[in-house]
Amino acid sequence: MTMSDSPVMKAIYERRSVRQFLDAPVSRECVMEGLKAACWAPSGLNNQPWRFALIWDAEYKEALAGLTRYSSTLKSAALLVVVLLDTEASYDRTKDCQAIGACLQNLLLSLHSMDLGAVWIGEILKNGPRVLEILKLPERMELMAVVAVGHPAHRNQKSHRRPIEELIVLEK
Ligand SMILES: Cc1cc2nc3c(=O)[nH]c(=O)nc-3n(C[C@H](O)[C@H](O)[C@H](O)COP(=O)(O)O)c2cc1C
Repeated sequence: MTMSDSPVMKAIYERRSVRQFLDAPVSRECVMEGLKAACWAPSGLNNQPWRFALIWDAEYKEALAGLTRYSSTLKSAALLVVVLLDTEASYDRTKDCQAIGACLQNLLLSLHSMDLGAVWIGEILKNGPRVLEILKLPERMELMAVVAVGHPAHRNQKSHRRPIEELIVLEK
């Protein structure tokens, strides 16, 4: 198997942030599979500090959409996955945030591999406490991201990356 045949490499390179969705339902089974893959991310001391709130309800989606300038993406998504840090499960904030980043990437890649689209919304973090209030989540939870999920309205999203030569700061 060459590197380009690897399904993991293919998913990494093919995945794009999807911000527009079709008005079509998303299978709960696929979402559960995606969350399971998310939870197989590494975490320090294997403390698994991530928690999820699943928002399918249009009124709650609307309320969360009011807290970000990406409101049209949130409203058009079939599902919002609210990703939280359980501060009671936390042992080192930096490492826990890194683990949740890995968890989020696993979620995005697995959703992509099931032909679903998703985007990591960080802009809503400025309203983290409001999100907890609206969802009546306990204060020990800290908002890490909202992932909007749905069937992509199109697949022509382009992106770019800086050449690797610019990013290696030392090689001895
Ligand atoms: C921490 C973080 C926060 C992000 N916040 C937002 C956001 O608020 N709104 C949005 O549309 N995209 C957001 N994104 C997605 C990035 O814009 C996107 O990953 C980047 O432009 C590269 O595009 P690609 O994902 O299609 O490769 C975020 C990504 C990360 C990792």
